[in-house]
Amino acid sequence: MKDLKTTYLGIPINNPIVVGSCAITSTLEGIKKLANAGAGAIVLKSIFEEEITGEAEATAAKELGADENNMEFYDYYDYQIKSDVINKYIDLIKAAKAEVSIPIIASINCSTSNEWISYAQKLENAGADGIELNIFKLPFHEEKTSTELEESYYNTISKVVEKVSIPVGVKLAPHFTNLNQVIHKIYERNVQGIVLFNRFTSLDFDIESDQVISGNIYSSKHEFSNSLRWISIMSKEIPCDLVASTGVHDAKTVAKMILAGASSTQVVSAIYKEGVEVIGWMINELETWMQRRGFNSIADFKGRLSQGKAVNPHQFERVQFMRYFSDHVPASKQNDSLL
Ligand SMILES: Cc1cc2nc3c(=O)[nH]c(=O)nc-3n(C[C@H](O)[C@H](O)[C@H](O)COP(=O)(O)O)c2cc1C
Repeated sequence: MKDLKTTYLGIPINNPIVVGSCAITSTLEGIKKLANAGAGAIVLKSIFEEEITGEAEATAAKELGADENNMEFYDYYDYQIKSDVINKYIDLIKAAKAEVSIPIIASINCSTSNEWISYAQKLENAGADGIELNIFKLPFHEEKTSTELEESYYNTISKVVEKVSIPVGVKLAPHFTNLNQVIHKIYERNVQGIVLFNRFTSLDFDIESDQVISGNIYSSKHEFSNSLRWISIMSKEIPCDLVASTGVHDAKTVAKMILAGASSTQVVSAIYKEGVEVIGWMINELETWMQRRGFNSIADFKGRLSQGKAVNPHQFERVQFMRYFSDHVPASKQNDSLL
């Protein structure tokens, strides 16, 4: 047995396999299965800002109509709907904390810093061990500059950090012009962890029915490289936990992310594709690899291949194909197992 203990948002966890926010983590049944399968921690399905604000207002307006006589009830009704959304989430946190012993992280999807931020305290009071902020909106704002959009994220993060005393983490998208600066500015808001990267639903077309549909809901095992690159680069500069997300499908990728400097990894698509058993397979395979390489703990190899320790640090920033890779091995012939 190897010592797989590590941290997620600074919270001690038994192993680096954290289940990322997804539909499976939205029910107590799913949470129990994931905990029994050996997950180090679980991030709950996000509660969405629109759920708390926009939808509540829309539902209140629909139910009460535009009749001015109803307006006095509007605020009360709006408040009730918002409370229902948040109360359901609070109940899930409480039930999860009562049933499983691993850390339970609440997740909020947000893009603005409005009234809903006060709800963060309610999630803390419900027993959440930490809060993960999923803060991205597709940037195509016509009036705001990218700097203004980024500032609004920083304000949101600061306000949540001020409100709660449990650790706060930020789950970032990769779509920023200068990620290095964005990651630094987020870290300066006193967050305990940064998750690199979130992966979103993609746009696709059904060309027979002319429908707009969601495509590629699940990642493939080849999508890990961008997270690997940025964790390798940033781990020398950012002292809080960096967490790898997107394309972590096997123990080999978990090992790579930790070698890059990640404290833990988030896994979602692999669980949808293989079932919850994949968590145990990853843990066993990671231990076997650690045994072979002579590593006794995560600390023995964390950051070993980060840019900060590299003989040739420029390799980490290379993106252009400057020569033809004639010795390239086709993906189908590569070995993904650590055994
Ligand atoms: C069905 C599904 C639902 C998801 N819901 C959320 C969510 O509510 N909040 C969030 O931050 N990420 C959500 N994600 C993104 C995942 O947490 C994760 O970041 C992404 O799938 C990349 O990891 P993977 O390659 O292991 O799948 C969802 C992903 C899937 C597949």
